[in-house]
Amino acid sequence: MKIICSLGGASALLAATILANSASAASLVGTVLTPAGAPAYGAMVTVFDAAKEKRDTVYTAADGSFAVRTEFGGALSVRARLAGFEDSIVVANVGPSENSRLDLTLKHFASVDDASDALSASAFNARLPWKDVARDRPAFISQCNYCHQIGNATTRIPQSHQEWMTTLEKMEGMLAMPSAPQKAAFADVLSRGFDGKPIAAKQSYGASPELARAKVREWEVGDADTFIHDADVAKDQKIYGTDEGHDILWVLDPKSGAIEKYQLPDIDLPRGGIFSGMKLPIGVFSGKHGPHSMAQTRDGRIWITNALSSTLMCVFRRSRPCIPTGSRPPVPI
Ligand code: HEC
Repeated sequence: MKIICSLGGASALLAATILANSASAASLVGTVLTPAGAPAYGAMVTVFDAAKEKRDTVYTAADGSFAVRTEFGGALSVRARLAGFEDSIVVANVGPSENSRLDLTLKHFASVDDASDALSASAFNARLPWKDVARDRPAFISQCNYCHQIGNATTRIPQSHQEWMTTLEKMEGMLAMPSAPQKAAFADVLSRGFDGKPIAAKQSYGASPELARAKVREWEVGDADTFIHDADVAKDQKIYGTDEGHDILWVLDPKSGAIEKYQLPDIDLPRGGIFSGMKLPIGVFSGKHGPHSMAQTRDGRIWITNALSSTLMCVFRRSRPCIPTGSRPPVPI
């Protein structure tokens, strides 16, 4: 890869793709049952490699059966997961080219808290007690949910009205733009709605015959400061990911699983780029460029908008090995 032009001008740890087929070594077949012994339809069965850096996931058919071919071998963790049940995790010793049988039985949650904690953010978000839904919820979606979900374990911690006002001010520092009345309405509903008590909800992953034929493969890259914003498939069928936390362009070859990383050329800006000093979250915007979005033009060049350095950068894979030259640092406009 070569940075050929730059013009003046925004634990994510996993890149995922759905594979139709993959050349693989071992096969696991079996059934997932509910605690009552009924077939679990649409359960996710995930095989983790021994280092827990890669995973293969398939979904069970209506009779609870699954089959997964995987290139992983050794002591592999296999997890069955279905909404409404506790995960079932077993360790299977799988040799290369081996066919193994594995039956898993989901468990009941040990407590109402465990059942509540396993729900998605939307289950909590949907219960927010809006005084005027038609007026205030669209503003909440446009000013809060456009950036991140609200209702997960991090964002539903109980806070007083005043504490929520402080959180909302922090979010304004990240460029949320609620009006003063909207802020008061948000602080009101959030302080009443997120009270720390467990909730009960029925959720479904949407089991279907199509899903039972799908396979998802995931690769883990980077570290705790890695924040892959965009992931695009380029013309070379590789997956490119912009890491805002480290100013890195990750390149994954889904066929071989090989992962390359390219450091963007340094720029004379502090950590956080031109937004340094604002209330930016540590570990999210810790780069200087903050590579955000990507698009590939017909000539093969990949264009990146650098959110923190306010530059537009382009990247070109000209020869192998691909090394970014960094010879022409981006020029801010
Ligand atoms: C521009 C993007 C953006 C918008 C818009 C935004 N947030 Fe956030 N929010 C973040 C980021 C990034 C974090 C992580 C902060 C950190 O790691 O310190 C965060 C964290 C949070 C947290 C976790 C607690 C904390 O203080 O870090 C809560 C709660 C939260 N946001 C609520 C909201 C609400 C309510 C709104 C709507 C007013 C909102 N956010 C709008 C980006 C945003």
